[in-house]
Amino acid sequence: MNTFRIIAISLFLSALFPACQEDIQRPENISKELLQHRLDMLVQRSLETYEQYPPIREKIYRSRSGFWTLRFAEESDWCSGFYPGILWQLYGYSSKEPLMIAAKAYTSFLQKEALKSDSHDIGFKINSSYGQAWKIRKEQEFKLTLIQAARSLSKRYDARMQAIKSWDYNPGHYQYPVIIDNLMNLELLFEASRLSNEPSFYRLARSHVETSLKHHFREDFSSYHLVNLDSMSGELLGKETNQGVSDESAWARGQAWGLYGMTLAYRYTRDSSYLRQAEGIADFFFNHPNLPEDFIPYWDFDAPDIPEAPRDVSAGVITASALFELATYSNNREEYLNWGDQVLLSLESSQYQASRLPFFLDKSTGNMPIEEEIEVPIVYADYYYVEALIRRLKFFP
Ligand code: GLY
Repeated sequence: MNTFRIIAISLFLSALFPACQEDIQRPENISKELLQHRLDMLVQRSLETYEQYPPIREKIYRSRSGFWTLRFAEESDWCSGFYPGILWQLYGYSSKEPLMIAAKAYTSFLQKEALKSDSHDIGFKINSSYGQAWKIRKEQEFKLTLIQAARSLSKRYDARMQAIKSWDYNPGHYQYPVIIDNLMNLELLFEASRLSNEPSFYRLARSHVETSLKHHFREDFSSYHLVNLDSMSGELLGKETNQGVSDESAWARGQAWGLYGMTLAYRYTRDSSYLRQAEGIADFFFNHPNLPEDFIPYWDFDAPDIPEAPRDVSAGVITASALFELATYSNNREEYLNWGDQVLLSLESSQYQASRLPFFLDKSTGNMPIEEEIEVPIVYADYYYVEALIRRLKFFP
C-alpha cells in the first residue's frame, strides 16, 4: 500500500473514531476549567448532531446497540424526554440558538404524552423535556403542559395504597406495583403544585414518598426494586426485582433513583427524615465493597460475576448529580462533592466517552435480565451527566 493510501485511511478512521485518537487518562482533580471544557465539547457535539441530523419525530435518540445501530424512542417510551432535556440544558449553558431550536422541536413531539395516564413514566417524559424547557424559558405553554401532566399522573394515585401505580402490565402477577424509580416522577407533582398553587399534587407526592420509605428500603439503606401491594387493601404482598440480579440484590440504578428521589423530596418538603434517608443511601453506595475503584458501579452490587460484570455508567452519573444537590443540604458536603467528583473524573477517561454522535457516554446497562442495552451509550446517562456537570460548575465562583 502506498504512503498516500495509508495516510488517507488513517484520516478516515480517525474521523470515524475521534475518541480513539489518543487514550485520554483520568485527570487528578475537578476544576472549573475542566468542567467548562467538557461542557463546551458536549455543546459542540450537539451542534454537529443538529447540523447532520435535524430533529424528526421518529428519531428521538435512545441508545446505540452497535457501531451502526441506533435505537430510537417513540414518544410513549419512558426515555423520550431525555434528548430534548439534554438540548435544553446545553442551551441554558451556552445560549447557542440552534440548540434551542432543536430542543423546542423535540419537546413539541411529546405534547400529547401530557394527556396520558397509562404509566408513571409521564414524569420522566414530561419533566425532563417540558420541565427543563420551563426552567430555561418561561413560556406559558411549557408551564401549562407541566400542570396537565401532573393532573394525568395524579390519576394513577390510589388513596387506599397511598401510592402511584407504576405499571398496568402483567396484572396476573402484579396487583399494584410500585417501583423505586417512581420517586423520580414526583418532581413533576411537586413542581406543578408550586406552579399551579394546587396543594393536592404536593399531598399525593408526599404520601407516595412515605409509602416508599415504609416498603422499599432495607435496614442498610439499599432498596428493593418493586413492591407489590394488594389492590383492594393496600397491604404488602411482596418485594421483588424486575431489572436486578435477584429480589434481595441491590440493582445499581435503583439505588441511584432512590438517592436522587429522596434528595428531591427533601428539596420540596425539608423533611429531615428524607435527608437522612438520602445520606444513608449515599453511604451504602459509596462505601460498598463491590464499588469499583473508579466509582463506576457494576449494574448490580450483587452481580455474580464481579469483577467481570458489566458496568452501569448511568447509575454512577445519576448518583453524582444527586450528590451535588445533596451536598448543598447535608453536613457531609465535602465527602459528597468528593464522591461525585470521582465519578466525573473517571468519566473523563476514553473508556467511558462515547466515540460516535449523538451520545456522550459509553457503558451504561439498561436491562440486564432481558439482555437489553448492555454497556452501551444510553440517553439518560447523558442527561444526568450534563446535569451533574452544570450542578458541579455552580460550586465555583
Ligand atoms: N425504568 C427505568 C430504568 O430502567 O431505570
